[in-house]
Amino acid sequence: MSIIFDEEQQILHIRNHAISYIMEIVDGKYLAHRYFGKSIRSYHKTGITQYFKRGYTTEHEISIPYASFDDFPFEYPVREHGDFRIPAFAAEPASGITYSQLEFHSFEVQKGKPAIAGLPSVFASQEEAETLKIICEDPTAGIRVTLFYSIIDNLSIVLRHQKIDNVGRHSLRLHNVQSLSLELPPQPYEFLSLYGSHAKESNRSRFPLHYGIQRIESLRGSSSPQNQPFFALMSPNITEEHGEVYGFHLVYSGNFLAQAEKDSFGNVRAQIGLHPESFSWVLEPGETFETPEAVLNYSDSGLNQLSQNFHQLYLEHLIPPQFTRRTRPILLNSWEAMYCNVSMEKIDIQSSLAKDLGIELFVLDDGWFRSGNTTQTSMGDWICNEQKLPGGIKTAADLVHKKGLLFGLWFEPEAVGKDSVLFQEHPNWILGIPGYNRTEGRHEYLLDLSQKPVQEHIKHMLDSYLKDGDIDYIKWDMNRPLTDVNSISLDKNRKKEISHRYILGLYHILNWLKNSYPNLLIEGCSSGGARFDPGMLYYVPQIWASDNTDAYDRTSIQDGFSLLYPPSAISAHVSIVPNHQTGRTTSLETRYQTASLFTLGYELDLTLCSAEEQNVIKQQIADYKQNQKNFLSSTFYRHTTPDDNHIMWSIVNETDCFLYIMQKRHDPLRSHGKFHLLGLDPNADYQNIDTKEIFSGDELMHIGITIPCVKEDYHTFILHFRKM
Ligand code: GLA
Repeated sequence: MSIIFDEEQQILHIRNHAISYIMEIVDGKYLAHRYFGKSIRSYHKTGITQYFKRGYTTEHEISIPYASFDDFPFEYPVREHGDFRIPAFAAEPASGITYSQLEFHSFEVQKGKPAIAGLPSVFASQEEAETLKIICEDPTAGIRVTLFYSIIDNLSIVLRHQKIDNVGRHSLRLHNVQSLSLELPPQPYEFLSLYGSHAKESNRSRFPLHYGIQRIESLRGSSSPQNQPFFALMSPNITEEHGEVYGFHLVYSGNFLAQAEKDSFGNVRAQIGLHPESFSWVLEPGETFETPEAVLNYSDSGLNQLSQNFHQLYLEHLIPPQFTRRTRPILLNSWEAMYCNVSMEKIDIQSSLAKDLGIELFVLDDGWFRSGNTTQTSMGDWICNEQKLPGGIKTAADLVHKKGLLFGLWFEPEAVGKDSVLFQEHPNWILGIPGYNRTEGRHEYLLDLSQKPVQEHIKHMLDSYLKDGDIDYIKWDMNRPLTDVNSISLDKNRKKEISHRYILGLYHILNWLKNSYPNLLIEGCSSGGARFDPGMLYYVPQIWASDNTDAYDRTSIQDGFSLLYPPSAISAHVSIVPNHQTGRTTSLETRYQTASLFTLGYELDLTLCSAEEQNVIKQQIADYKQNQKNFLSSTFYRHTTPDDNHIMWSIVNETDCFLYIMQKRHDPLRSHGKFHLLGLDPNADYQNIDTKEIFSGDELMHIGITIPCVKEDYHTFILHFRKM
């Protein structure tokens, strides 16, 4: 790992064994991007565009003959003086004219990886990481921009963010500050992103990048189920195992913009960051603004490698470290069993059964504070309904603890309902626009998390439940997009800061929670996976992937999330059939196996399970526990299958390989394919633990295995191979 400055060539080269990132300082002032990709030893200015004289363009003071700004590879581009492509930065100084010229000023290399004030970010020790800080300035506008680039050991990843200082004498308004801008060479790309909705999150969208701008975004106030704050530009023939790909992911939970522009010459500019449409920020003299962090990932070995880079980064450098290698308790969640109709008796019965089956944590979901049995009342006061639960939460927790289970509780701390005392007493604490009715979402409004008193109120409320140690786990839910996004407390000229300030407020509370209760297991949730992003993962080690618990739909949802997140971060539950969301019936085995490579839970009324089913569940839990530790140190693979009737994943480590295959439909025509294993030691032999058959690693990888033609839709197979 090194960050080198070649003074003669004016080249900055960030490098580890996996990647190189290269920039050139042209004429002492223009910062040009030269390369990002597979590691190279040293750079001698190969591959630089050769410009030619052409019309309808602009001329500049630059020593490269005929170079024009409209196709110059700016490292951090601004508009207005000849570069007409998507800009990374726009600021309005006191002149009122949105115009700046950022010129290279200096650079600095430091050990380690700096944190970002108030925001979640990747962490690494002084030995593990190195950071380059490049300072660019516009003295006329009084703007200093510091571009950050961090590399970690041999990860194929560069971490980027920007810090803006107002070094002038007047206030300044930021309109656009992208976390990352990257120039890519003219070649064919496909644009990959993950789109979805409630109950069908994280589906792949893939199309050829065409001339012009292609973008995905969220303006829903949170990262949203509609689009992950992620996209990739990849070689058109890429597979899970082969091909080149650049991945962009934002460590942020609010509105974002992710886009790529292919210019007339085929050059590509990629960007990700805060969405400029819902952002502006006033910087007074001496003040600083820092952007969220962007993760830039590179793989020349297909999408699996891209995913594994993300997984390793998030496991080792983002998720609260105390949970990274800790096995997560297998839980029983009350939601699909009781919905809001909870009672002490039901908790008693379900947790007794759960204990017998080997479950470790009972989670009391929504309903415990509701006046009725729907999700329409009482949001925001967080007072237990003692008609449902005599003795309150403490009694429920004691009941569960006495059975030898951990106790977990559901909260939706950001929401408030019209019938709450909170709403009556503090109408100014709620997002809304004076003179207009607020828009309801799931019969609720949202608290204005940008306000300090609101943050303190939520902290105090949570603390009152947590301080006595009765609660071992909380599920932090958030069930609606942000509308009427206005804070009563912000001045007129700061109104557009609210979307970002809401997220900063959320992070402030989560940070307090994480530091005050380091052993509290927090599960993120937002109507399922509506706020599943790396920003949240900095505070919570696992996130509920979807309200859709149907095993068949879960294959695509979990497959999508696995592109970015390690399996331990993805919560997956076994529920009852017919499935409550889809009406589909799948076998208990399929439901378990589909969840079994991820963080496992059960979410069903155990009294509805026959004695035989309960025995099956008991066995599933015993199997899971046996392998759980193993999973935490494994590599996750998605496999290219012989046809689209199958989906295949595996988890592989030094000693074991667990293979999951789902046959979507029974189809005799598509029963003859071979399924190739990945990541095995080609020179070792492996034994199928169930059949005791022995195969060589290279045989399993290069020839592959066959599976029987089973007359059942949604049939799954789990095969376990152990290295001999
Ligand atoms: C959301 C969550 C569910 C459940 C309900 C409770 O929809 O995603 O898992 O907690 O809220 O209201």
